[in-house]
This record gives sequence, C-alpha cells and structure tokens, in this order.
Amino acid sequence: MDITAPLLPDTGEPGFGVYIHWPFCAAKCPYCDFNSHVRHQPVDQDAFVAAFLSEIAVMRAISGPRTVTSIFLGGGTPSLMKPETVDAVLTGIARSWHVPDGIEITMEANPSSVEADRFRGYRAAGVNRVSLGVQALNDKDLRFLGRLHNVEDALKAVKLARDIFPRMSFDLIYARPGQREDDWIKELNEAISYAVDHLSLYQLTIEEGTPFYGLHRNGKIQLPDQDAAARLYEITQGVTEAAGMPAYEVSNHAKPGAESRHNLTYWRYGDYAGIGPGAHGRLTSGGRKYATATERNPEAWLEAVRMQGHGMIDNDSLESEEQADEMLLMGLRLREGLDLVRWSERAGHSLNPDKEDFLIGHGFLERLGNARIRCTPQGMLILDSVVADLAS
Ligand SMILES: C[S@@+](CC[C@H](N)C(=O)[O-])C[C@H]1O[C@@H](n2cnc3c(N)ncnc32)[C@H](O)[C@@H]1O
Ligand code: SF4
Repeated sequence: MDITAPLLPDTGEPGFGVYIHWPFCAAKCPYCDFNSHVRHQPVDQDAFVAAFLSEIAVMRAISGPRTVTSIFLGGGTPSLMKPETVDAVLTGIARSWHVPDGIEITMEANPSSVEADRFRGYRAAGVNRVSLGVQALNDKDLRFLGRLHNVEDALKAVKLARDIFPRMSFDLIYARPGQREDDWIKELNEAISYAVDHLSLYQLTIEEGTPFYGLHRNGKIQLPDQDAAARLYEITQGVTEAAGMPAYEVSNHAKPGAESRHNLTYWRYGDYAGIGPGAHGRLTSGGRKYATATERNPEAWLEAVRMQGHGMIDNDSLESEEQADEMLLMGLRLREGLDLVRWSERAGHSLNPDKEDFLIGHGFLERLGNARIRCTPQGMLILDSVVADLAS
C-alpha cells in the first residue's frame, strides 16, 4: 500500500478555519446526536444573521487579525439556509478576517433539501464545495436511517452538486445492521462511480440519548460485531485505495490533493473560530490557546447573543499538556501522522519512548523518519487505545 504521497503536505502551517453552525433540520435522524433541532415554525433567519455577525466580531476580537484558509457551514442542515443568509454570513466573515480569493468554502447539504435555484444561490454567495449527506444507496437502509430522501433524490442531488460546484463530496454510513460484505463492496463501488474526488465513510455508531441507543440496548438493533465491523473497515480501505481515493483520515477518503483543507486544519491542530449554537473553537491569543464553546440551544444562543454580543459559555485557556493530548488525538487520525517536533514543543517533553516502543513493537504505531509517527492500519482499528496509551 502506498502511504507516502501526501499531496497537501503538512507544511507546519495548519491554517485558520471558520466554522458556522446551522442548528436546524427538517427531521431528526434516529442515530444523530449532533446539535440539530426541528422547528415547526419558520426560523427567523434574519435574527440568526444578526447574531452570527455579532458573534463573528467577538471571535475576531479574540483571534486578532488572521488570514482564513477555509470556511465550513455545517449542521444540522445548512442547506435549509436561504442563499441570502449564507451570503450575509460569508460577507461578515470577510469583513472581520482576511479571506483570500479561492479558499475552500464548504457547505453541508441534505439531498432532500436541495433545489437547483438554492444551489446556484449558494454558489453565487461564494460556496465552492458541497458535502452531501447521502448515507446509503439503497432505499431500505435509507428508511431504516430515518432519512427523508430516497436513492433517486440522492443521485439527483449528487448530479446537481457536480454541475454547480467546483468540488463536492458525499457521506455514507456503513456497518449497518445486517449489512453483508458483498453488498457493501457493491454499494461502495457504486458510490465511487458517482464521486468526484472525496468521500466520507462513517461506521454507524450508537450515540447515547438517540432513539437508536434505546433500540440497541433492547436488542432491537444489532450492529455487526467487532470482527465484522473491522472487516468492513478493511474492505473500505482496500476498495477506496484501489479506486485512487485512499483514506487520508480514519473516515475520509480523497484523491491526492482533494483533501478537505478545513478538516485538515482540525486534525493538524490549527486554530478555528466556531460560531453559532453549540459550536466549538480553538483560538490562540496572547500566546495561549483557548477552547471556546457556545450555548447549544438555538433560541437560548440567540438570546445570549442579543444580551452580551456572543453565546459563548466556555472560553478556557488550555494547559500545554491538554494541548499536547488534543494534538495527539487529532494527528493520529491522519495517514500522514503526527509531527513529533511540533508535538514536543507543545508538551514540553518528548513522547514516552517506552510506550512508543511498545506500540511500535506490537505493530500499532510506526515511525516515518525521525520526525513523525502514525498509526499502522492495525493501530487505526484500535485508535482510541493507542491514543490513551500515549497521552500524558
Ligand atoms: C453533521 S452530519 C450533517 C450532514 C447532513 N445534515 C446530513 O445528515 O445529510 C455529518 C455526517 O455525520 C454522519 N453521522 C452522523 N451521525 C452518525 C452516527 N451516529 N454514526 C455514523 N455517522 C454519523 C453522517 O454521515 C452525516 O452526514
Ligand atoms: S439531517 Fe444530518 S444533522 Fe440533521 S438529524 Fe439527520 S444526520 Fe443529524
């Protein structure tokens, strides 16, 4: 397997991203624990624009002047935003920070909320990359996942996105109950035939507090067991690799050069401003790195912004050990691995050589020259334990 060809090399400059959270969906999917809410009354988008602009200004005051390297409109379902809303938010970002022409501006979209006119409006507002939540390519599983779209809608949305946006990706969820290996191989190959150069492929996880959590606990939903899930994961690696779209992160696959810059900024432990209800950020100010988090409830967030200009409920300075742990957790998700020099600078010491040797000896970790480590494919299967072992 060729794992030595990063096309967006880690230059030591992880970039500066801006994340905007749109917290509404047309319906809540039974597996989803993202901060997304269903409202039966129309959402006052003008009020949200005013609040986004206010919070952008506050985040700018913390971060100081920066050059933005990517913007991401996530959710929830940002494709429920009016194009004018998107335009106003992107304009607000460009008023606060330096936004060079042509940077990656991604928007998540649901196939069921897609209309050609709106897509054109988003494109005109500056969005140049769309990430579509396709989730499955058969109607039975889409119904099981509680999605509002069918395969036909999904394929229409993929086609439209390909026609309108210079870049596009879509998401699938696999390791579904009863999913057979040969069915997944077929579905994945079909997905690859519709993809341009990027796919996000997530294993279904059962999140506490979701309807699937209760069903799973009562035995009404059975996921593939650990071995079967590992096998599906390995199949996913092999099929995408053979198609020229290898994993560059645990769940993200791209042709070299088509990686999501925004997500790379997270995983390389760069700074990002998180704006909107329930958004998280990492901002460096006065030589310290701060972890920000905002109020999750959309209406409470609006009210907080009205009262105090922002909806932040946390703005904590991170100790160097915390930063080092976060950097490790993020960096080991990447195929390019972790830059040990930058890690040691944050931690104030080197990685524990005994723990490193142990993990290397057992085939879970490998060195890339002197300056980087990364998980082996076996290590990726038990990433959480590898990180826990190495963390300070
Ligand atoms: C924030 S969601 C937003 C995308 C968009 N709202 C949609 O669902 O089409 C991002 C992606 O996370 C994945 N996801 C969410 N919950 C998941 C879960 N419990 N297990 C696996 N993947 C999940 C889905 O593939 C989803 O497209
Ligand atoms: S549409 Fe996306 S964000 Fe909304 S509930 Fe479903 S998975 Fe979650």
